[in-house]
Amino acid sequence: MTVGEALAHGTHVLAEAGIDTARLEAELLLAKACDDCARALLYMELRRELTPEAEEGYEALLARRARREPLAYILGHWGFRRLTLKTDKRALIPRPETEIVVERALEHLDGVGEPTVLDVGTGTGAIALAIVDEHPRARVTAIDASEDALALARENLDLLGINGRVRLVEHDLTEGLGHDAFDLVVSNPPYVEPEDIETLQPEVRDWEPRIALVSHGATEAVARAATEALRPGGWVVLEIAENQAANVAGLLRDLGYEHLRVSPDMAGRDRVIEAQWSR
Ligand SMILES: C[S@@+](CC[C@H](N)C(=O)[O-])C[C@H]1O[C@@H](n2cnc3c(N)ncnc32)[C@H](O)[C@@H]1O
Repeated sequence: MTVGEALAHGTHVLAEAGIDTARLEAELLLAKACDDCARALLYMELRRELTPEAEEGYEALLARRARREPLAYILGHWGFRRLTLKTDKRALIPRPETEIVVERALEHLDGVGEPTVLDVGTGTGAIALAIVDEHPRARVTAIDASEDALALARENLDLLGINGRVRLVEHDLTEGLGHDAFDLVVSNPPYVEPEDIETLQPEVRDWEPRIALVSHGATEAVARAATEALRPGGWVVLEIAENQAANVAGLLRDLGYEHLRVSPDMAGRDRVIEAQWSR
């Protein structure tokens, strides 16, 4: 099979499996099968014959994707802000809307000398690592209740060489967040209601860890516990589901937070909320 034939074949297999971005994903999987060559190079070699090993490897990758395993788990890495993070089934794949969470968090850290940050439910470590990457003096305590997620976050920390400014701690947020006077509490908590799990895409529903997705009340628990974990004047920044903004805003006001702001994602949906703890 030539490179060109392989791309056409892969596109067909993935489209049949219901994948919208079939051509792009076929290119990425073929590039991985060809010893991680650059995707653009494939187009310079459309008539080249694949080696038997590359062909076999490509078929195996296509079969995984056709079973709707997420592309990020198959590739083993995924981009998040300026970083490339290791990704696998131990933790949620970092999402574009979470990049906005980081952007809002960084705005509140701007001008703070050596800010201290608490990342609740760190997963791959995406938020914590992006913050220390983009704020040269920030220190982040990153907690998660999942041992698996923390192991992956540790690998990302080591790979990126940002050890020293991120502390990973196994901790369940329902036990509270302590009284450490953080400058910022940031979180992308699990916010899919248990009854909604069946409505999600198979990539999410069948492959990403349930503990990262499903919860009833995690957002409220973070907002409540952050009132004790923040210093007066500190900020909380939370990712929310698109239908959650009004409820979470009400909750934050009831708890005594001020200066609320909701930010939309690229599609205009309200996905990030922030508020100041002024007491
Ligand atoms: C939606 S994922 C977010 C992961 C990562 N921060 C990101 O944005 O890509 C939620 C994370 O919260 C963790 N988690 C769920 N319940 C928790 C709890 N009760 N205490 C601490 N962490 C929890 C999950 O293990 C998961 O890593």
